[in-house]
Amino acid sequence: MGFAAVDVIRTKRDGGALSDAQIDWVVDAYTRGEVADEQMSALAMAILLRGMTPAEIARWTAAMIASGERLDLSAVSRPTVDKHSTGGVGDKITLPLTPLVAACGAAVPQLSGRGLGHTGGTLDKLEAIPGWRASLTNEEFVAQLREVGAVVCAAGEGLAPADRKLYALRDVTATVEAIPLIASSIMSKKIAEGTGALVLDVKVGSGAFMKSAADARELARTMVDLGKAHGVATVALLTDMSTPLGLAVGNAVEVAESVEVLAGGGPSDVVELTLALAGEMVAAAGLDADPAQVLSSGRAMDSWRAMIRAQGGDPRAPLAVARETETVRAERDGYVSTVDALGIGVAAWRLGAGRARKEDPVSAAAGVVLHKKPGDPVRAGEPLFELRTDDASRIPAALAEAGGAVVVSEAAPGPRALVMERIA
Ligand code: URA
Repeated sequence: MGFAAVDVIRTKRDGGALSDAQIDWVVDAYTRGEVADEQMSALAMAILLRGMTPAEIARWTAAMIASGERLDLSAVSRPTVDKHSTGGVGDKITLPLTPLVAACGAAVPQLSGRGLGHTGGTLDKLEAIPGWRASLTNEEFVAQLREVGAVVCAAGEGLAPADRKLYALRDVTATVEAIPLIASSIMSKKIAEGTGALVLDVKVGSGAFMKSAADARELARTMVDLGKAHGVATVALLTDMSTPLGLAVGNAVEVAESVEVLAGGGPSDVVELTLALAGEMVAAAGLDADPAQVLSSGRAMDSWRAMIRAQGGDPRAPLAVARETETVRAERDGYVSTVDALGIGVAAWRLGAGRARKEDPVSAAAGVVLHKKPGDPVRAGEPLFELRTDDASRIPAALAEAGGAVVVSEAAPGPRALVMERIA
């Protein structure tokens, strides 16, 4: 049945609930180009301002899934389980986590994205590895899942095309932040990807989409309910993104830090979150492996090398090193009280690690490397962080962001929990 787009917009503008038929029609008609961008922009803004009921969100998600293909992973004999992070600064967790969970006996179908703005993208990071390619056909994707058990690659064009179009529109109409639209966008892609179970890492803090725990909790609850309604065992962790994860923020530097974790070292927060998410994924997949033991056995590193090689990458090839480095030192003795995720993320982006527009290239070598984390004692003259780039003209703007992000105080800050809450 057809509707007039203007009636659908008016219903939501006036605070009403859209019917199932209205939702099915508007998502399909927009994907086909029958509903214009300006009409969908108005509807997205009405949804942002008026919200949606759980029934509307469920139907909107189903309509987005139905706009494209749904992958069939039934040929994969191991249980499938995926992770999705809502995005943060220094969030390289997918890199050690995917091979670790594969080494625990699951198959991990990880369709990832590229970075936009201050949050990095997993594909950009992996492309810092010489030869590695992000695009696989559906057949290659399933074959690698069967043979290696771990795949990180770009989502194909056929998956939730309604979301691809709507996300680009939301980005330029200040409607990204609507919880119903974020939840349906993320979950439509994850459900269409065919995973049996899903663990969500919902970030909270300055470097995240969700600045408050209350908003993050609502987003997590909405996504967990959507997953369960579609038969996907879904759990969410709310995790702190007020400060970057680990010491490295960028592309090659984050790959190097991930390899350290796989080798049994690495920063304690990266190891803690990797193991927390791996524990949830292993349980959601119905396995009883111990991720900490598998990590220390070296089997996760073997799985990483197999995963990188399967996509043309050379796991032993040297990574790009920046031509220019600027080190910033502490001006006084004290404790590092703040390393603000947003400021460091923007600095890394200004150095060339991220992109301002979808089509921009990124630099593999650019980024920020922290020498201190919140709570660390520091003496005047000791390095706090270094900026790395191939283009020295980018340093002043990055310095302006990162300089204000790192604060040294007399007293040590109180401890902060990295994993804040679990929502099942
Ligand atoms: N990531 C997505 O895939 N969609 C959103 O709406 C926000 C983050």
